Amino acid sequence: MIYFDNAATGGRKPDSVLTAVSSAIKVCANPGRGGHKLALSCATQVENCRNALDIFFDGYGFDRVIFTKNCTEALNVALFGVLKPGDHVIVSCMEHNSVLRPLEYLQKSGVITYDVCWLKGENATAELHAEDIRSLLHPNTRLVAVTTASNVTGMIPDLTAIRAILPKNVLFLCDGAQGAGHFDVKMKGASIDLLTIAGHKGMFGIQGSGALLFSDRIDPRPFLFGGTGSMSISLDMPDFYPDMLEAGTLAFPAILSLLEGTRYLTVHQKEIGQKLYTLTKYLLQRLSALPNYAAYSHPNVCGIVAFKHTVLQSEIVAERLSHTYGIAVRGGLHCAPLMHEALGTLDGGLVRASFSHYNSEWEIDRFITALTEINDE
Ligand code: ALA
Repeated sequence: MIYFDNAATGGRKPDSVLTAVSSAIKVCANPGRGGHKLALSCATQVENCRNALDIFFDGYGFDRVIFTKNCTEALNVALFGVLKPGDHVIVSCMEHNSVLRPLEYLQKSGVITYDVCWLKGENATAELHAEDIRSLLHPNTRLVAVTTASNVTGMIPDLTAIRAILPKNVLFLCDGAQGAGHFDVKMKGASIDLLTIAGHKGMFGIQGSGALLFSDRIDPRPFLFGGTGSMSISLDMPDFYPDMLEAGTLAFPAILSLLEGTRYLTVHQKEIGQKLYTLTKYLLQRLSALPNYAAYSHPNVCGIVAFKHTVLQSEIVAERLSHTYGIAVRGGLHCAPLMHEALGTLDGGLVRASFSHYNSEWEIDRFITALTEINDE
């Protein structure tokens, strides 16, 4: 199978990640849950990962790195931990349901209100403007949430420009599900207060790895309660991070995969970005020569190209690509309904091809042949 669904989950991992996961499964104890040598050694490796993420994302200290099982959990820990009754939130229409659904729930429960900032422009030229976010600010706006990259089109908003127009007291949350690993996201540099990470995409970790990093301006309340291995005599959660936000056994193999993925990126991030940019540019060039296909992406380092067929629904195209040609892509709405509303593609969705640096132009040539034949049917 040709795997062009890396934005859903990274299909191939570096050998160093596979080795780390396999050794973590073979020799495993519960980090932070005992004083024996193996538990202590596992705990040290968990702390190594916390440090690596803190450095990689220019965070606010290793104790402000919280491990979660995915980016959705990190976003829920952030939103439920930070928002208070009466708060107002602004989100971009590019956000994933993992941001939108918690906010919708909180709004329907009467806790918060939120507004959506829409893109300006048509199709591939549509953009998010910092000025439009500014116009939605209220005196009680507590938080602005903007993704680091659209999971639908690969569009990368200008986070620095957006932060620059926000009053200092407004918290800035960036969903790193699709951007983290693909390009530099520096928390302190961009004054990001909350950054959420999916370990299993651009970070080269396995499924079950994720993280929330947060600034020293906030003290999120716990969203999940339980054992932490610390302060066991107390019926309250510990009053220090990371323990306060990490109830239950950590996913040790997943955390080790994230550590190795981060190390891999520290060496290779630039060349991976160049390769993904080249692959997306190549597909977009070839696609522009095909009748009946319209692209919604620009070349990008996230490796994403979204497009539609003028007649066929995206899920039909995706199904034919899989069943007849052995090519994996994702059609439909990609859990980002407002982005599709903004692009005018709610009806029919988009086909999304998403690459990793392990993909090749030869695979794209086969993809183009398949799309040509689907169009000629
Ligand atoms: N959020 C993931 C995607 O975009 C699963 O496919």
